[in-house]
Amino acid sequence: MYKNTSNQNSKNMITKKGIILICLGLFLGSIISAQNKYIGADKCKLCHNKPTTGDQYGKWLASSHAQAIKTLSSPKSLDYAKKNGIADPTKETKCLKCHSTYDRVGATLRGGILATEGVSCETCHGPGSTYKSPSVMKNLAQAKTMGLIVPDKQLCLQCHNKDNPFFKEFNFETYAAKIAHPNPAKKN
Ligand code: HEC
Ligand code: HEC
Ligand code: HEC
Ligand code: HEC
Repeated sequence: MYKNTSNQNSKNMITKKGIILICLGLFLGSIISAQNKYIGADKCKLCHNKPTTGDQYGKWLASSHAQAIKTLSSPKSLDYAKKNGIADPTKETKCLKCHSTYDRVGATLRGGILATEGVSCETCHGPGSTYKSPSVMKNLAQAKTMGLIVPDKQLCLQCHNKDNPFFKEFNFETYAAKIAHPNPAKKN
């Protein structure tokens, strides 16, 4: 009888410990994800603007992704807005969710990202506060555990789909080639 109760007790202890550990895990997890903040393309520019390593910043700036907010003020956009009862497309969630880094990747803090950045580095690569340090950046596996995203077709399809009022057929290969910014110093 006595043995049985003690077994019961230690089982209870184990479940309690389990619950405490799970809670601790969730708590630490929330701290880590809370540290994942957007820092803005200007920060990425510090290291990713050299022609010898691919000038990712310059290539992005010249791409239409960097113009995505501006596009929302174009005559075409304003015309669509007027016909659909949207007062200001540059302030409209329905448009910003694809034309900006609009909290797509689960990090709630916008941090240093500018509203004008459009579809920015961190829209595709994830919020950079945790992976931006040089030692982490040089180690792809580590950078990924810190939130760096290596974007694939699925990521593009989050925006290049028919929810876009101006949808055009999306072909991953041709579209990816148009925005490619590889590092020529890297042998793949
Ligand atoms: C302090 C310098 C520094 C900063 C700041 C920095 N990076 Fe990097 N990054 C590097 C270095 C060094 C590498 C490794 C060489 C390479 O792959 O170009 C790298 C690699 C990368 C890679 C390639 C990973 C791979 O191997 O496929 C991506 C993507 C990337 N950085 C994105 C960003 C983004 C987005 C930002 C801004 C949020 C940023 N980096 C900020 C230095 C930096
Ligand atoms: C957050 C939403 C979003 C994501 C994710 C996204 N895009 Fe885009 N993309 C846009 C928007 C918005 C435009 C239009 C920008 C403009 O014209 O102002 C665009 C435009 C483009 C264009 C230019 C089209 C043209 O004919 O001028 C290319 C190419 C492109 N995207 C490729 C890609 C690829 C490849 C991926 C995935 C690696 C991707 N995009 C991911 C929102 C996104
Ligand atoms: C589901 C994502 C998504 C949503 C939502 C979205 N867009 Fe876009 N938008 C895009 C993409 C992607 C492109 C580029 C399409 C391409 O070239 O393949 C684009 C292109 C455009 C263009 C350029 C069209 C052209 O042919 O020159 C305008 C203007 C525009 N969007 C306005 C808006 C407005 C206004 C809203 C809100 C009512 C909106 N978009 C909502 C993703 C979206
Ligand atoms: C529309 C999405 C998108 C945006 C915006 C974007 N990238 Fe990328 N990036 C990609 C894709 C796709 C790849 C290729 C991933 C792969 O290797 O399969 C890539 C690769 C890279 C690489 C690795 C290059 C190599 O050859 O190893 C670096 C570094 C990088 N991006 C930095 C940046 C920086 C910095 C910015 C902003 C200035 C930026 N990216 C903006 C989608 C994007």
